[in-house]
Amino acid sequence: MSWLIQIFSSSVGKKLLMAVTGLCFIGFLAAHLAGNLSLYAGGAAFNAYAEKLHSLGPILVVFELGLLALALIHVITGITLFVQNYKARSVPYEKDKAAGGRTLSSLTMPYTGFIILGFIVFHLINFSFVDKSDRTIFEIVRAAFVNPIYMIIYLVVMIIVALHVRHGFWSAFQTLGVNHPKYMPALMVLSVIVGLIIGLGFGLLPIYLWTIG
Ligand code: HEM
Repeated sequence: MSWLIQIFSSSVGKKLLMAVTGLCFIGFLAAHLAGNLSLYAGGAAFNAYAEKLHSLGPILVVFELGLLALALIHVITGITLFVQNYKARSVPYEKDKAAGGRTLSSLTMPYTGFIILGFIVFHLINFSFVDKSDRTIFEIVRAAFVNPIYMIIYLVVMIIVALHVRHGFWSAFQTLGVNHPKYMPALMVLSVIVGLIIGLGFGLLPIYLWTIG
């Protein structure tokens, strides 16, 4: 138990928690995107995918509880690090310089994180905790994106998610020890590719759904 307290109380431990939980989230996003791509194949394909997912029953519930636990750890640890950095402003800046420069995504990590948290609550209210007794999940999603405001909110948030993932991916591997000069340029390129896949993959869906309205 003392090792757990040590992880939560040390800065390195907190960064490790952020890295591991963040990478798990990127894994979830990759799986979520793969499932959502069935939206392009139409209502029958997307509803079949959703039904298959829900037929997992208790396995899905365990997965969702795991996801919630990861979210709580990531958010609470992130807020703690944000407050720590705020109290000692010079520390993160020096660290960022040493880690390869400050970028838009690195500087905005806490803010993009808060926006994504707000988005997830909004997203779950709209698509997860919604009455599905008289409509299929495809009808619910399609009806949402008929509204251009909804489409634009999603588009903006997907750009924010892409920025957060781009820096988070790179930073997580750096925290986990992949900071050899030989691998850093490749990791930088890979993080941009991962950010683009997430941003474009999710971002094009609302535009597509809005156009087929
Ligand atoms: C165009 C973008 C997206 C679409 C169309 C979409 C669609 C959906 C739908 C339809 C569900 C409910 C599935 C069901 O209950 O059958 C869902 C759940 C969820 N989505 Fe998204 N999503 C998008 C992007 C995102 C993003 C970017 C995130 C995270 C940052 C996210 C996080 C979640 C979470 C956490 C759940 C609940 C998963 C569960 O309960 O198993 N989604 N999404």
